[in-house]
Amino acid sequence: MNTENPKQNLPWLDKEAENAATVRGENSSPDFKEVVEAGLERRELIKTLFTGAAMAATGAITAPSAEASSLTGLTFKPIKLSQGNDYIDVPEGYDAGLVIAWGNPVTADAPDFDPNRQNGPTQSQQFGYNCDMVTYHSLPMWNSTNSRRGLMCVNHEYTDPTAMFPNYSTTPTKDQVDAEIAAHGVSVVEVEEFFGVWQYNANSAFNWRITGETEMMITGPAAGDPLMQTSADRTGTRVRGTLNNCAGGQTPWGTMLTAEENFNQYFANRNGMPAGVNRDNMARLGTITGVSSRRWESFYDRFDQAKEPNEANRFGWIVEIDPYDPNSMPKKRTSMGRCKHECATTTIAKNGQVVVYSGDDERFDYVYKFVTAGVFNRDNRAANMDLLDNGTLYVARYNADGTGEWLPVVFGTGPLTATNGWRNQADVLIRLRQAGDALGATRMDRPEDVEVNPVTGAVYLVCTNNTQRGVGSNPATDAANPRANNRSGHIIEMVEAGNDHTRTTFNWQIFMLCGNPDDPAQGTYFAGAPREKVSPIGAPDNIAFDNQGNLWIGTDGMEAALGWHDAVYACVTEGPDRGTLMPFMTMPIGAETCGPTFTPDNETFFLAVQHPGEGSTFARPSSRWPYGGNDIPRPGVVFVKKSWGRGTIGS
Ligand code: FEO
Ligand code: CA
Ligand code: CA
Repeated sequence: MNTENPKQNLPWLDKEAENAATVRGENSSPDFKEVVEAGLERRELIKTLFTGAAMAATGAITAPSAEASSLTGLTFKPIKLSQGNDYIDVPEGYDAGLVIAWGNPVTADAPDFDPNRQNGPTQSQQFGYNCDMVTYHSLPMWNSTNSRRGLMCVNHEYTDPTAMFPNYSTTPTKDQVDAEIAAHGVSVVEVEEFFGVWQYNANSAFNWRITGETEMMITGPAAGDPLMQTSADRTGTRVRGTLNNCAGGQTPWGTMLTAEENFNQYFANRNGMPAGVNRDNMARLGTITGVSSRRWESFYDRFDQAKEPNEANRFGWIVEIDPYDPNSMPKKRTSMGRCKHECATTTIAKNGQVVVYSGDDERFDYVYKFVTAGVFNRDNRAANMDLLDNGTLYVARYNADGTGEWLPVVFGTGPLTATNGWRNQADVLIRLRQAGDALGATRMDRPEDVEVNPVTGAVYLVCTNNTQRGVGSNPATDAANPRANNRSGHIIEMVEAGNDHTRTTFNWQIFMLCGNPDDPAQGTYFAGAPREKVSPIGAPDNIAFDNQGNLWIGTDGMEAALGWHDAVYACVTEGPDRGTLMPFMTMPIGAETCGPTFTPDNETFFLAVQHPGEGSTFARPSSRWPYGGNDIPRPGVVFVKKSWGRGTIGS
């Protein structure tokens, strides 16, 4: 390991140096020599900090022997998987560097990060914790494909107070709770590339924070429903904050979609709710029966279901944010239903209708898609801004013969009638999981990301893992979830009827059964690719496509499944090399890969590094990533580029 404290040498961590060096405001004109020198200095540091070039590679025991595929542009040399390396590794000819990390200033007046003195006001001006979804929005706004300057939106899934604070106990202080609430939400920052190095501009007027306290609007069919009303909001149309945002998406009109996932963990004392429909639904979603481990309810009644039985109904939605307008109010779009949404992936159908795919990440839960009533308007951005309020929601059923159906989740259709106790569409959306149960949707192995191949139109669904199938009274294996002890997860490939995303039938097949291909007992399958062209992979989570239709797969939980750190892979989806799987990037100790995304020109790859040092404490961190020395681990977003900046990622 590098024993020096690299933090002292990092020009972009020193605010003065940072402001003087490569981060520039919109109207500044950087001195060319200064920028080049700063870039060169950073590049050397990036190499030692991130690729471990100055460190002895330790513990990488498997050499994935996949061969490059020139057909798809994937010609990089695959890296070794990692065991024990506390840095990010990328292939030869590539560099990775940090864009922003937990505690970095987001707003211009943000205080310096001091983990010993965090509270709501400080944290609400700084980059939040556990970054997950990353979206890149080119500047200037609308119809721009600028790949050198844009807005980066990053959501912050959850907090780990034992890693964030010194002296955290089961009775947290109000400052700690307020800092946690403020460390959730979303950060929007302006980012720019100079000579192959991305930095964020800490002084940009575009920067803003959305937290667990930011006021947002509730829109769509469930807005105003009695189940959405609380003592603080009798209208059922205004809610404070967004929580547990996992993946998300980006719309063709330039907004960010961020998906509220495991919101249940913040809401305590379900046993104190009156018995009935609302409590039963909260039980289906898993809100906390008694005291919560986070204890937010000790300070805020809205997290106590005995006192505010409807507040949790206002979480579990897809939230739409216009990053270009820091004064805009985020909107919870209830049309897409309430569950533990992993993602919200948008595609435009042939006729212009917009389709949003989403998975509900829980063992034995469902896959959804939403089809807008209106069509995308390429000429008028404003005309698209409320498209997501009206349309039809569907849930997936995977038949054993390789066909599938999208079942409408619509009040009055099928079993979703007044006779069966459903009140209206708001009720159906608030109790989405129960609607899926009634419709007979297929119970999946934790649906995570869903993405559409931009070349073929095929839809890829990631099921991250499920070791409980067939255990006790749980559902048995089925064609779409074929392994009982599915430790490593699988990926399903779907083709909509007529390759039309608005249609209600599809064909599907297993694309990948993940695991270690050297262990026949794991029953792996890589779309037909032979052993020498694939690598061990476990617990796929977030995926992304490049412009050539290659699938990029990030994992969350590979260490538990297979013993290697989480990693990012590139995978060929079409042609003779279909199924070829090559490791591209490995994570530091304890970290998960989140939010893989490309700039429009595919020359930059962004990734959120979530929970480095997971499972350890503030006093005894198991990782020092990214700053090294004596710093605590800090979740952060990194960029990857070809060395010296130019060239397509994967080449
Ligand atoms: Fe937050 Fe489903 O991963
Ligand atoms: Ca995830
Ligand atoms: Ca996950």
